[in-house]
Amino acid sequence: MDIIWNVSICVTALVVVVISRWLYRWSNPKCNGKLPPGSMGFPIIGETLDFFKSYGFNEASPFITKRMSRYGTIFRTNVFGSNTVVVTDPDVMVEVFRQENTAFIFSLPGAFGKVLGKDEAIINHGKTHKHFKQITLNFFGPDGLKKKLLGNIDRGTCEGLRSKASVGSFDIKEAAGNLIIKHLIPKLISTLGAEAAENLKNIFMAFNLDWYQSFFSLSSWKSLYRSCMASRDAMKVIKSVLSSRKETGEKHDDILNTIIEDVVLDDKYVIFQTYAIPIAAKDTTSVVMSMAVKYITKNPKVLLELKREHNAILQNRVDKKSEVSWEEYKNDMTFTNMVINESLRLVNLAPVMFRKTLRDVEIQGYTIPKGWMVFVATSLRHYDPAVYENPYEFNPWRWEGKQLVNFSKSFMVFGGGMRLCPGAEFARLQIAMFLHHLVINYDFSMAHDSEATRTPLVSFPNGIHMNISPIN
Ligand code: HEM
Ligand SMILES: *[C@@H]1O[C@H](CO)[C@@H](O)[C@H](O)[C@H]1NC(C)=O
Ligand SMILES: *[C@@H]1O[C@H](CO)[C@@H](O)[C@H](O)[C@H]1NC(C)=O
Repeated sequence: MDIIWNVSICVTALVVVVISRWLYRWSNPKCNGKLPPGSMGFPIIGETLDFFKSYGFNEASPFITKRMSRYGTIFRTNVFGSNTVVVTDPDVMVEVFRQENTAFIFSLPGAFGKVLGKDEAIINHGKTHKHFKQITLNFFGPDGLKKKLLGNIDRGTCEGLRSKASVGSFDIKEAAGNLIIKHLIPKLISTLGAEAAENLKNIFMAFNLDWYQSFFSLSSWKSLYRSCMASRDAMKVIKSVLSSRKETGEKHDDILNTIIEDVVLDDKYVIFQTYAIPIAAKDTTSVVMSMAVKYITKNPKVLLELKREHNAILQNRVDKKSEVSWEEYKNDMTFTNMVINESLRLVNLAPVMFRKTLRDVEIQGYTIPKGWMVFVATSLRHYDPAVYENPYEFNPWRWEGKQLVNFSKSFMVFGGGMRLCPGAEFARLQIAMFLHHLVINYDFSMAHDSEATRTPLVSFPNGIHMNISPIN
């Protein structure tokens, strides 16, 4: 009896010791220095559920603000299965961007990485990143847009709006997505026939992030399934074009060809990077465009000023039938650009940017161990009342003649440093063109409830529909 009693006490004690050691290890990870303050949450799931809680549109991530008030501008946590440090100080954020590839590197949190596959095909680093970046900038930077895309975007957007107006009402986000993909595909692969291009467009349109809205509804799972299938199908199309080009050695002026020119790259990598461009472009630009239209319908003074600006462009044209020129876009759409900046700021699309440390990094007296994730919370800056007075108010005039002090620290909607979004100018141009044709040709209003939520990505649970009719 005594023996059994003793053994069970020993076993219980052992279990308690093992579990508490495990819990202790979990909440106090190894570090050659002082970790930033914070909590690692529950073993395994960490604080992931809290990170994923949805919150109001006009609100900075409560996950971050709550912890900031408890721990300060830098704190540790565990989300998506990765030990993580969140940085919110503007100087630190800019420093993280500046040290890309030396101390920090773009990365995805553990769980995402596992779903998507091995890092190497998904994430481009170093030389291959530079190569890819150069190509995207050639196509989507000012020069590429001016020479190769402006006319198409102008005509395509004008035509797209006309066909929507004949119906009378439409979902802005979907229409915007369609326009963006339609303009991108010929830049990615210029050799698809009309039918194949339309087919590829539909595949990309089937990809969406709406499943994010809730993990618990059947429609979310269906949507996730459709997005996975769409990804597979898109990569299949790209793969077949790639292999036929490699066989025949034919050359074309498009992204797919430029990527493989003069360099030897893994096919998987080329296919994934090509596929990733429309994915990065669609649900970002279309959300900002939708919200811009919504803000305009709610602010008659803004609409009036936009109409004045765009009608002046028409009046000043020598040839009344000509299309929008690059000079008009660059020089005569100042207010439009203020509206776009203000929309980008308020939509505040990316709550954080993902990085990983390449070595132990010292920040403000703390050490972030090698291999930890770093979340760069750029979104907080855009709602900072010290930079933007009444930060939740839509006020394009705040941009007027504004020389934002330390601008790159105050407006990071397109990221920063070497990873700065290469599609920024394309997104701006597409939104400007949409507003141009919209305000000069149409009366419009929001159709019904078009509430936006953050989960933490921005979504419209009831869609975002507008009514539209030609001005007569
Ligand atoms: C309003 C629309 C957009 C927003 C707010 C946006 C935002 C961003 C941000 C914040 C990053 C940096 C991510 C990081 O540092 O971790 C990024 C990267 C990127 N974006 Fe955009 N983006 C937009 C539109 C586009 C468009 C239209 C394209 C394609 C034409 C595009 C292609 C890319 C690519 C390829 C990268 C990766 C750059 C790199 O790794 O160096 N984006 N975007
Ligand atoms: C809008 O923001 C960009 C930076 O992305 C800046 O260069 C530009 O001057 C801003 N435009 C206006 C009208 O404030
Ligand atoms: C701008 O940034 C510099 C360097 O970080 C800093 O010394 C200066 O105080 C900043 N200016 C303002 C007005 O924030």
